Amino acid sequence: MTPYQVGVIGAGTMGAGITLVCARSGHRVSLVDANPDALERAQSYIASILNRDIQKGRITEQQKEEITGRVTAETKLKSLRDCDIAIEAVPERLDLKKTIFSTLADTLREDALLLSNTSSISITEIAGGLKHQERILGFHFFNPAPVMPLIEIIKGKKSSVENVERAYQFAKDLGKTPVLVSDSPGFIVNRVARPYYNEALRILGDRISTVEQIDDIMKKAGGFKMGPFELQDMIGIDINYATTESVYTNFFHEGRFKPSRIQQRMVQAGSLGRKTGEGFYEYSE
Ligand SMILES: NC(=O)c1ccc[n+]([C@@H]2O[C@H](COP(=O)([O-])OP(=O)(O)OC[C@H]3O[C@@H](n4cnc5c(N)ncnc54)[C@H](O)[C@@H]3O)[C@@H](O)[C@H]2O)c1
Repeated sequence: MTPYQVGVIGAGTMGAGITLVCARSGHRVSLVDANPDALERAQSYIASILNRDIQKGRITEQQKEEITGRVTAETKLKSLRDCDIAIEAVPERLDLKKTIFSTLADTLREDALLLSNTSSISITEIAGGLKHQERILGFHFFNPAPVMPLIEIIKGKKSSVENVERAYQFAKDLGKTPVLVSDSPGFIVNRVARPYYNEALRILGDRISTVEQIDDIMKKAGGFKMGPFELQDMIGIDINYATTESVYTNFFHEGRFKPSRIQQRMVQAGSLGRKTGEGFYEYSE
């Protein structure tokens, strides 16, 4: 496996995990975030996971130093100019992603892979109008990225087959299970998952059951590892809401995907789940 210079853009829930996955596999990573506090939190998260690995005897202190030594924190996208691969993990907003990809397309080499971790937004639309669209693909990790094996690889209208193969091999080398999917709203997993969240929110809104009861039933009787509300808190309610909104819009407002007012209010109030300490549940430090 060739060790690459990887750029990860966005040091939030996903960017921090993706950085760890890449650095563990031997790649050098430049992690970029506009917010220096997010970079600090991501570095503490990576250190805490590696410390747990040391306690469990999975790695040595020296291996931890090697992994963290491969990660640098940056605040400017231009610092990614020498990267072979860039993975974007900023919030689920088309305008933001388009701006980032426009800078990446102008900054990185023509043959560098430009990957988006978007949960639902069309890769064709993110890439539209940019230089060398053949190198722009979806590369969708799942949360928590260091644990979940699946990566959905999404070919946009103009992504080349050769670059899909490069991304596929990169995912395999990260120890992941890549699956090729079509560029359609929510791809596979997030489209299938919409009713899990939406119906649970409707049941809550109709006062048929409580957050705790719904989560409990889905785990005990449904066999799910996490209930729909625990999952929303882990994902980030803003991210989950933005994904539903994007799927709803891109399915031309089909009622089955209509976003929930309960989620909308929580986003407006800044109750975003674990990352803000409060969502459907409360979290201490
Ligand atoms: N949270 C999940 O469970 C999950 C799972 C799979 C995919 N995704 C997708 O991954 C992406 C990121 O989600 P997240 O949950 O990590 O979001 P997050 O809100 O936790 O983190 C986003 C980070 O991007 C940074 N950012 C914002 N604008 C920026 C800019 N212009 N330049 C650099 N950094 C910037 C923010 O400061 C923040 O640290 C989204 O597209 C989301 O849909 C999320």
